[in-house]
Formats: sequence, structure tokens, C-alpha cells
Amino acid sequence: MSDDTTRPAGAADGTDGVDPVLSLSNVDSGYGEVQVLDDLSIRLDPGEIVCLVGPNGAGKSTVLKTAFGMLTPWTGTVEYHGRDIGGMAPEEIVREGIGYVPQTDNVFGSLTIDENLRMGGVARDGGLEDVIETLYDRFPIIDRKRTAKAKTLSGGQRQVLAFARALVMEPDVLLIDEPSAGLAPNTADDVFEDVQEVNDMDTAILMVEQNVTKGLGISDRGYVLDQGTVRFEGTPEELLNDEEVSQLYLGG
Ligand SMILES: Nc1ncnc2c1ncn2[C@@H]1O[C@H](COP(=O)(O)OP(=O)(O)OP(=O)(O)O)[C@@H](O)[C@H]1O
Ligand SMILES: [Mg+2]
Repeated sequence: MSDDTTRPAGAADGTDGVDPVLSLSNVDSGYGEVQVLDDLSIRLDPGEIVCLVGPNGAGKSTVLKTAFGMLTPWTGTVEYHGRDIGGMAPEEIVREGIGYVPQTDNVFGSLTIDENLRMGGVARDGGLEDVIETLYDRFPIIDRKRTAKAKTLSGGQRQVLAFARALVMEPDVLLIDEPSAGLAPNTADDVFEDVQEVNDMDTAILMVEQNVTKGLGISDRGYVLDQGTVRFEGTPEELLNDEEVSQLYLGG
């Protein structure tokens, strides 16, 4: 089903030869008997932000869930630094160095900001205090509210806490599902800046985003998914300027 892509997978921007931090190759996956991903291949190179876009139900969240071990690939491979992690449990994958920020329920509302960060670090062997202080330095908005319950945070602040919570494990890959969902435009802009801030901390990011222009706007590359497979891939400019992508998936 990859005949419709603009170019072969992996030839997007001259990064061939770099070893990806994360790659899904020819993956089929789904829920129970229901297949969602169909021969899907994507890669994330060191330091990149890669954005997955596509219509509702295309399988974007399913890609993240498969990469994070919440679903086991039926066929194909999920590799992290060249090692097959397909079928590993999420709690093992977290220790390997991949973090995941789901779209909803990504913080514990009844716990304080500080408690949320500590929860994020239960699998750490040590150094918890130091990493938490570093994250407070990076994200002053949560530093000022250490003892407040997470449910008192605004939507944007909550998203920052969700990022920080995932970063307590110091992942080098972060999977983020629709960081701007449900946020007002100004707040969404702040969250996209925070995504870039996370990326600046040497974290490669695979992000799903409905806000195609802004999502691709901060990304190095993007993939357009439809019906569980990659239809187009390229740089943000290539995707946003492609007539067919624009007509079919970006509302003209
Ligand atoms: N837990 C589940 N059990 C069964 N089917 C599911 C489950 N979660 C998702 N699906 C189905 O898998 C398909 C892909 O869903 P997925 O959530 O990956 O899409 P998406 O691209 O993230 O969509 P959206 O933009 O709406 O978030 C959809 O048809 C959806 O109904
Ligand atoms: Mg989704």
C-alpha cells in the first residue's frame, strides 16, 4: 500500500546513513482482531521532531501505542537504537529510554505537581532529586506550583507537567499525542514552544498533531497517514506545498 507515497520511505531529506533512534518497519498492528496499521514504516532520527498527521481514525495514535509497547506488532519490527523492542512491555520500554505523553489523562489531577514528577521517576535507579530540579529550572511554570494539585493547572500548564513527568526518566525519544488538543490558540503556541524546548534537551520527538500547519511548522519531517499506512512523507515545506496532500488531507 506504499505505492502512493511521494518517495520511498527513508529518502526524505538526505538523512540516509544516520542510524534512526526509533523505527517501525513494515508494521501491521491493531486491536484484537481489528487491523489498524497496514505495512507502516516510519523512522525518527537523532535530534529530530517528526510529525504524524492524517484524518481521524488514520491510525496515528496506534503508531505511538505500538512504538510504546501498548500494542504488539503483528508483523514487522519496532527498533530502538537498532534493537528490536516489538512486544516489550511499556514499563520496560520506559527504562530503555522512550517516553510517552498520551493525549488525555496524562497527569494525576489529585496529586501535586511534585508528586506527579516523583511518580514519573519511580523506575529510576537514582538521581531523582537532581533531575526534578533540572526540570523545574527548565519549566518555571510548574516550579511556581510545586505543591498545587495538578487539577488546578490550566490546560497548557497541565501539558507542561505531562511533558516534565515523562522527562523524569530522561528519555532520548518522546512520543507525544496531540499536545495542542483542546487548547486555545495562544496556549497551543506556548505548548509548541515547550515541545521545541524538550527537543533542545536532546530528545527526539515523534508527535501526532491535528494542527497540521503548526505541528509541521516546528518539525523536521512529517508523514501523512491514511488507513493505517504512510501516504506521503517529506519535509514540512514539501508536504504543505504538495497539491495532492493539500487537497486530500489538509482541507485544500
Ligand atoms: N482500543 C481500541 N479498540 C478497537 N479499535 C480501536 C481502539 N482504539 C482505536 N481503534 C480504532 O483504530 C482506528 C485508528 O485509531 P487511532 O486512534 O489510531 O486513530 P487516530 O489517527 O489517532 O485518530 P484521531 O485523529 O481521531 O485521534 C480507528 O478506526 C479506531 O476506531
Ligand atoms: Mg489519535
